[in-house]
Parts: sequence; C-alpha cells; structure tokens
Amino acid sequence: MSKLKVGILGATGLVGQLMTYYLSRHPWFEVMYLGASKASAGKKLREVVQEKYVPKPIPDEVGDLVVEEIVPEKIPKELDIVFSALPPNIAKDIEIELVKRGFTVVSNASPYRLDSDVPLINPEVNLDHLELLKLQERNRGWRGKLVKNPNCTAAILTLALKPILDNFGIKKVIVATMQSVSGAGYPGVSSLDIIDNVVPYIPNEEEKVENESRKILGKLTGEGIEWANIRISATCTRVPVLEGHLETVFVETEKDCSIEEITKVLEEFRGPPQEMKLPTAPEKPIVVRYEVNRPQPRLDRWIYEGMAVVVGRIRKESAFKKGVKFVLLGHNLARGAAGIAVLIAEAMVKLGYI
Ligand SMILES: NC(=O)c1ccc[n+]([C@@H]2O[C@H](COP(=O)([O-])OP(=O)(O)OC[C@H]3O[C@@H](n4cnc5c(N)ncnc54)[C@H](OP(=O)(O)O)[C@@H]3O)[C@@H](O)[C@H]2O)c1
Repeated sequence: MSKLKVGILGATGLVGQLMTYYLSRHPWFEVMYLGASKASAGKKLREVVQEKYVPKPIPDEVGDLVVEEIVPEKIPKELDIVFSALPPNIAKDIEIELVKRGFTVVSNASPYRLDSDVPLINPEVNLDHLELLKLQERNRGWRGKLVKNPNCTAAILTLALKPILDNFGIKKVIVATMQSVSGAGYPGVSSLDIIDNVVPYIPNEEEKVENESRKILGKLTGEGIEWANIRISATCTRVPVLEGHLETVFVETEKDCSIEEITKVLEEFRGPPQEMKLPTAPEKPIVVRYEVNRPQPRLDRWIYEGMAVVVGRIRKESAFKKGVKFVLLGHNLARGAAGIAVLIAEAMVKLGYI
C-alpha cells in the first residue's frame, strides 16, 4: 500500500515538532509538507529549531524538509491529512478555509472543539463520536472534515475516568493540576515567572477541562452528543516542570467500589486503538504504579512513547459517600497533543473516514 501524504501546520512549534517524531518512519503516513509562520519560511526544519527546546530530536527524513509559510491556496492538494498545531487565533480561520477546500484536518487548536458537529476525540474513550462527521457534512456542506483532539489536561483526565465511568458511574470530579511549562508552547512561560515558583492560574484552562471532559465522556445520540451528567471542578496551576502534567483527581462514584476493583478496571482497560492495533496505540493506555511516590513527571512521562497515562496513590475518598482519589500523570505534548492527533488519524483511516 502506498503511504498517505500528510502535512503539519505549526511544524516548528513544540507540538508540531513532536508530530514529526510520531510520523517519521510511520507505516501508513509520510510527511510531505511543513507549514509555519513567515519567520520560519524557506529554512529547513532542522535549522529553524536548532536553538529551540526540542522534546525529541528531529528525525533525519523530516529535518531536511523546507518549511513553508502557510497560504491555504498553496498547500498541496494531494495531502490526505493535515495535522494542525497552530495557535488558536491563527488556526481559527486557516483550518476552516482548508476544510472548505476539501482537506481532512486533525487539529490541536481549541476553536470549535465544543461545536455540536465537531468530533472531539480521545480515541480510547469516544471514537464513536466520529459519527458526528456525518452531521458536520449535512450542516456545513464542507468538502473536507474537521476533527479536534482535546485540551491536553482533559485528554489525560478523560482517559483515566473512562473505565471508572463505565464500571461504577461518576457523579462528581474534582481535579487540581500541576502543569508543565511546555504546555504553554514555545517559548512559553518566562523563566523569571516560573523558576522557584508555582503560578496558580492558566488562562481559560479550567473551563476547557470542565467542558471538554463532559463532551468527551458524553453519549452519541441521534441528535449529536449528550454531554455526561458529571459535575467537574478544576483548578489548574503551572509548575516548573518541562514536560508532563500531574493531576490529583477526586472522584465521587455512583456505585461503591473497593481500591482493588478500581485498580483492576484501570489496569485492564483497553479501547478501540488497542483492539485495532493502531501503530501509535500504547499497549496499555493506563498504567498503574503501586509505589507511594509515583507517578513522577521525570520518571514516568515517556512510558509507551508518552502515549499512556500513569495512575498511582489510589485511595478511598472519605469526603464522599462513595469515591476514590488518585494521582494521574500524562505527557501533555504526546498523549495530550501530537501523539493523540496521530492516533486519531490512524483510527480514521482504519474506520474508513479517510
Ligand atoms: N503545548 C501543549 O502541551 C499543547 C497541548 C495541547 C494542545 N496544544 C495546542 O496546540 C497548538 C500548538 O501548540 P504549541 O505548544 O506547539 O505552540 P508553539 O510552540 O507556540 O508553536 C506554534 C506554531 O505555530 C506557528 N505559527 C505561529 N504564528 C503563526 C502564523 N501567524 N502563521 C503561521 N504559523 C504560525 C509557529 O511557527 P513559527 O515557529 O514560524 O513561529 C509554530 O510552528 C496550540 O493551539 C495549543 O493550544 C498545545
């Protein structure tokens, strides 16, 4: 089978660069186009990022590609998939323009994530929501397709909540996060603001975690998505960690559950990406650690190429009648952004959407 041709918008940013890692030597995809701002245009990707922080080294075969300024009319029509890792304000119009031109866009950017006919996908959790693409085609008359991956914190959280929801029901979730600086993109938070410090506010983050999680955990109905009837309350903070978001999660369940039962459903959880054996799917999407001092960002963030989340310190939550609490870790750039977008595209190919 000849490989599908893919492009990356925002290829020189933290998320875009990591996409090149997942897409290099990919069995189904080949990177043909790299787009970024005027400042990067005309240079090889390797040159543009040489003085920047890179989450993984740039793969040889992509490093020599020349970055182009993004002009929708000039993006090669033969691209089968366009991955977008553009800032929200830039992504907003460019992505719609491309979808109107017939491209399939899988996007990291926040605009349209909550629209009723835009699939917001965490592949192990709600791949069936891709059905919304039919509604999207009817509503908008676009020639192409727009699919979004979630905010990084919501992607990590909903993956861990899914088996708990399915087995015990969830009434309420309270989450406090410690988010890494790479979550803010490059160059991110100023060093003078974050070294020796914790910043107790990340603009718009708490609303994204609360709303997106309810959409992702919602049910597909004939009319669209019925958001999950779960009360979610988030407090998001920025900490001096390079990569990986840590979340302390408190869950009120419908049914009573023991620590052993919760541990078992988390450990045994597998989703459609594992069943379909997608190339970027982690063998185990949720890894449980039993040591009292895990998970830790530095030690655990790259497990299964950054595509699994790690749960530890599972305990009963005595503040609720029925419930548990735990510490959760996920790689914001991998599971929360670049890797999840590639996994969504793989699922779309396997299911015949591309
Ligand atoms: N970082 C995370 O953990 C994370 C997680 C989930 C989702 N996201 C979302 O993913 C997207 C990318 O995030 P990031 O962290 O990779 O950001 P970033 O490091 O700031 O990268 C932004 C990219 O967009 C390009 N760009 C900026 N302005 C442009 C313009 N006017 N025209 C064309 N290209 C332009 C940049 O190109 P130049 O290098 O040429 O400026 C760069 O390639 C954002 O929407 C973000 O909210 C990020």
